[in-house]
Amino acid sequence: MTLSKTISLAALGLSATLVAVTGTMALAASPAATAVATRQANFKKMGAAMKVLKDQISSGTISRPQAVAAAKTLAATGRAQAGLFPNGSGASSGAKTDALPAVWSNRSAFDGQIKAFVAQADKMVAVAGSGDLDAVTAQFKAVGGSCASCHKQFRADN
Ligand code: HEC
Repeated sequence: MTLSKTISLAALGLSATLVAVTGTMALAASPAATAVATRQANFKKMGAAMKVLKDQISSGTISRPQAVAAAKTLAATGRAQAGLFPNGSGASSGAKTDALPAVWSNRSAFDGQIKAFVAQADKMVAVAGSGDLDAVTAQFKAVGGSCASCHKQFRADN
């Protein structure tokens, strides 16, 4: 191998390392963007769980295992949401979010809405376990009211 070939191969090796490092950095999203993506995915999951319950109510029959699982998803996901609105993850961070600035300027009210929602979702777990259509219907309205109440105050696209 000629000297010049060795040198250019070494240069190639070096640039390959640089590409690898840059690639890794590009893959690591900012903490704000990650929080936004995770909380939005969680809200979608909550919407899907609500649909499971709504479909059962419409069918007139509560299937207990599925209803309880959906209610548990609501409660667990609702709890997780509390940690997914870190400071600096609002629209002013450049993140694509519908969370209004009030989430951070009125944090205690927002946390209160999460608490109220989780309480209703926990109640739904118990009610779903009863399999009682009327009770599930009434609790579904209470949970849905909790979603709407928070959206009115803290979500832009509503
Ligand atoms: C404590 C407040 C709060 C509660 C409770 C709440 N939400 Fe939301 N929701 C928000 C906020 C804030 C956003 C905007 C999030 C963002 O874009 O960063 C949002 C966004 C959403 C979205 C859009 C997600 C996306 O892909 O952009 C859906 C769907 C949604 N919520 C459904 C629900 C459902 C269903 C419930 C009840 C089962 C619920 N939410 C309860 C505050 C709440």
